[in-house]
Amino acid sequence: MKKRVLSGIRATGRLHLGNYLGAVKGMIKLQNDPLYECFYMVADAHTITTPFNPNELKQNRIEIIVDYLAAGLDPQKVTLFFQSQVPQHFELAYYFSSVVSIARMQHLPTYKEKVKQYPNANTMALLNYPVLMASDILLYKADFVPVGIDQEPHLEVAREIARKMNQIYKTSFPEPQRFATQGEYIPSLKGEGKMSKSVEGSYINLTDSLDEIRKKIRSIPTSTDVGGPIIGGIKTLFILSEIFLPKDLYQEFKNKYRDKTLKYVELKDALAQAIYDELKPFQEKRSQIASDLAYIEKVISNGAYKASEVANITLKEVKEKMGLF
Ligand code: ADP
Ligand code: TRP
Repeated sequence: MKKRVLSGIRATGRLHLGNYLGAVKGMIKLQNDPLYECFYMVADAHTITTPFNPNELKQNRIEIIVDYLAAGLDPQKVTLFFQSQVPQHFELAYYFSSVVSIARMQHLPTYKEKVKQYPNANTMALLNYPVLMASDILLYKADFVPVGIDQEPHLEVAREIARKMNQIYKTSFPEPQRFATQGEYIPSLKGEGKMSKSVEGSYINLTDSLDEIRKKIRSIPTSTDVGGPIIGGIKTLFILSEIFLPKDLYQEFKNKYRDKTLKYVELKDALAQAIYDELKPFQEKRSQIASDLAYIEKVISNGAYKASEVANITLKEVKEKMGLF
C-alpha cells in the first residue's frame, strides 16, 4: 500500500521563498514519487485562528491553490482542496480534543508567540490550532508531512494524539513524521529570526521581479570585516547561496570570504539572479493559470470530493470505536 502524505498552508497571503523551500518543494518531491499518495490543502479554517478579513480570506485561499499549481503540483497526481470544504476535519478535531489537556496546548511555543503577537485575540480557535492540525493529518492517516522545521511542535502533538487514540480506543493511526527539505529553515533577510510574512522586510515573494529581488538581497546586512564568523545577514546570504548557486560558484564565494577578497555585491547580485532564474517559470505559469478560473474551480471541487472519500473511512472507524456510530 502507498504511504500517505498531507500538508497545508494557511491562506494569509502570497507565498514567500521560505514557504516554497520549506514546504512546497517537499510537496513536489513526494508528488513525483509513485510510492506516495498526496493530499495538499489550503488550511483556510486555520486562517481564522488569528485576526482576518473575510473578503481577503476568500481571495487568498484561491491564490494559494494558484501558487500550488504554478509551483508544479499536478491535480492528476495529487488531491488539492480547501480544508473547510471537508468538514470531517472539524468533527475529528472535536473527538481528538477529548484526549488533549488544556495545559499541553497552553505551553506550546507556537501558541505563546501568537498570543504575544495578538494579545486581544487569545481565542479557543487559537488554542485548538494544533488539535485541528492533528486532525488534518490523521484523517488521511498520513505518514509524512512536508513542512518547515517551525511546525515540529505541532507534529509532536499529532503523534501524541495518535498514540493516545490508539491506546484508548484501539484505532490504527500512524505517528506522522515531518518530511524535511534542504530549506527547512530559511532565515530572515534582516539577519535575525526566520523569513516570515508577518515580518516586513524579512522575505522575498515568489512573484517578485528581478529588480525587487536584487534590491532585497542587496539590503541584507553584512558587516564590513569579511572573513569573520558567519552569522547574521552573512549567514542568510550563505544559506541562500548554498541552495541557489551552482556548487562550484558557491565554493568560490566561500573561499573568497575566507581569503577576505570577497566583494559582497558580487555575491549578492549572483544570488539575486539565481533566485530569479528559479522563480521565472513559476511566475510565467502563475499568470497563465490565474486567468483560468473555471479550471481552478474544477480542481478544487474534485479535490474536496476525493478528500471526503478517504476522510469518511477514518471518521467511521473513530466513531465506531468511540461508541458514537
Ligand atoms: P509564515 O511564518 O510566513 O506565516 P506559514 O506559517 O504560513 O509562514 O508557513 C507555511 C509553511 O511554510 C509551513 O510549512 C512552514 O513550516 C513553512 N515556512 C514558513 N516560513 C519558513 C521559513 N522561513 N523556512 C522554511 N520553511 C518555512
Ligand atoms: N500549521 C501550518 C502552517 O502554519 C498549516 C497547517 C494546517 C498544516 N494544517 C496542516 C500543515 C496540516 C501541515 C499539515 O503553515
